[in-house]
Amino acid sequence: MNSTSPPVALTDVHRPRFHLTAEDTWMNDPNGLIRHEGMWHAFFQNNPLGSTWGNMSWGHAVSHDLATWTNLPVALPFSETEMIFSGSIVHDAENTSGLGTPGGDGPLVAVYTSAFTPSHPTTPGIQAQSIAFSQDGGTTWTFHADNPVLTRDSENFRDPKVFFHRESSRWVMVTVEALDHSVHFHVSDDLLAWEPASVFTHPGLDGGIWECPDLLRVPTPGGGDDSWVLVLSTNPGGPAGGSGTYSLVGRFDGRRFAADASPQPVDLGPDCYAAVSFSGVEGDPVLMGWMNNWAYAELTPTDPWRSSMTLPRTLHLEHAADGTLQVVQHLVIPEEIRTLDLEVQDASAVLAVLDAEAPFRLRGELPTGSSHRLVLRFGDGEREGDLVLAVDSDGRVVLDRSSAHQEPFAPEHTHSLPYAPAQAGATLSFDLVVDRSCVDLELDGGRALISQQIFHGARTVTVLTDPAA
Ligand code: FRU
Repeated sequence: MNSTSPPVALTDVHRPRFHLTAEDTWMNDPNGLIRHEGMWHAFFQNNPLGSTWGNMSWGHAVSHDLATWTNLPVALPFSETEMIFSGSIVHDAENTSGLGTPGGDGPLVAVYTSAFTPSHPTTPGIQAQSIAFSQDGGTTWTFHADNPVLTRDSENFRDPKVFFHRESSRWVMVTVEALDHSVHFHVSDDLLAWEPASVFTHPGLDGGIWECPDLLRVPTPGGGDDSWVLVLSTNPGGPAGGSGTYSLVGRFDGRRFAADASPQPVDLGPDCYAAVSFSGVEGDPVLMGWMNNWAYAELTPTDPWRSSMTLPRTLHLEHAADGTLQVVQHLVIPEEIRTLDLEVQDASAVLAVLDAEAPFRLRGELPTGSSHRLVLRFGDGEREGDLVLAVDSDGRVVLDRSSAHQEPFAPEHTHSLPYAPAQAGATLSFDLVVDRSCVDLELDGGRALISQQIFHGARTVTVLTDPAA
């Protein structure tokens, strides 16, 4: 522990139960998310030696149900010459790579960015795409002998997301040139030899560097050809300031992505970055993001573990009133969580008093006809902090954590981007999960999600309404 760390007694009150955390070290982006043989695997950017960024390696955790996670040993460790940056995993069921064992059911192949350190003998400072493989379902990993498999001699070429495109029968790799604001598509028959296919740029998203792309196949509502959604993270330039994640709906022909609409935030809150999807899932994609923000990620008051993932969410498309396709997401909420259905009236009232140490879920309809607040007041008598879901007189909704914390925290990142429902109505649905320091909110039937961290440290929460906002 260093001198700026908070006392340990304060920190475990923040540890979520249903959001993935590293056991006692630093975590950032989700990596290599895959559902394989009935098990959900989450690998993640991990510093096995500390609670801030560095020594980047892939941590590993597994879950049967996407609700509770078991941490496993580090899967891909850093070395003196290479850090293991973000990437993805595919099941090479046909053993196209030849890395599997004869007669086996195909290896798991991890494609990650080698971030070569200054001590690398030939390519110091270069970022290139490399491979590791597992013959035992992801428990143990072997680095490929001929790494890297794809280089552009660039210092900012990273975050490979690989998937199999069945129409063209080829593997597709999606990467970024982070500083150039470009997404690069490469294709391959065997995961080892890659040829350039196309480059995507979009002038509307140049508020920060581009990181962690993903391309999702999503069923089109009403049938017809599948749609494709490009997911992209930018730092800064996120919807709520600092780092954040966007989606672009469009088309993909196996080589080239074309956007049909402008970017939509994947999350309106400050704490969803590098969101990517699980491989091995048919139908609507399942995504998970890093529940933190590069603007303050290393300052969150927990130690020695730091950061969590968001709850997983499924992603769907729906036709908006103007005929365009809109992204809709639903939180994957653990069944075990205590759920309260609230009757929210446009009046002052105490709705519930709950134990704040156990995760809880609040559902209901928010009146949107006048300004109104649903307040979660965390406190043990002497000290109180409010997490506020506020509706203004125009029916716009904001999640405000400006006074939710025990100590001042991220004063420049206190509010979600306001959500304005496309269709005006008397009420707006909300589904709010609070798992200690982790807050995930689904609004308006999934048309908006908000992820926020709060550091209150209280044992009791009072839920109240307050129309006199
Ligand atoms: C995004 C990111 C990635 C990179 C990784 C390094 O948060 O910067 O672009 O691969 O983190 O930890």
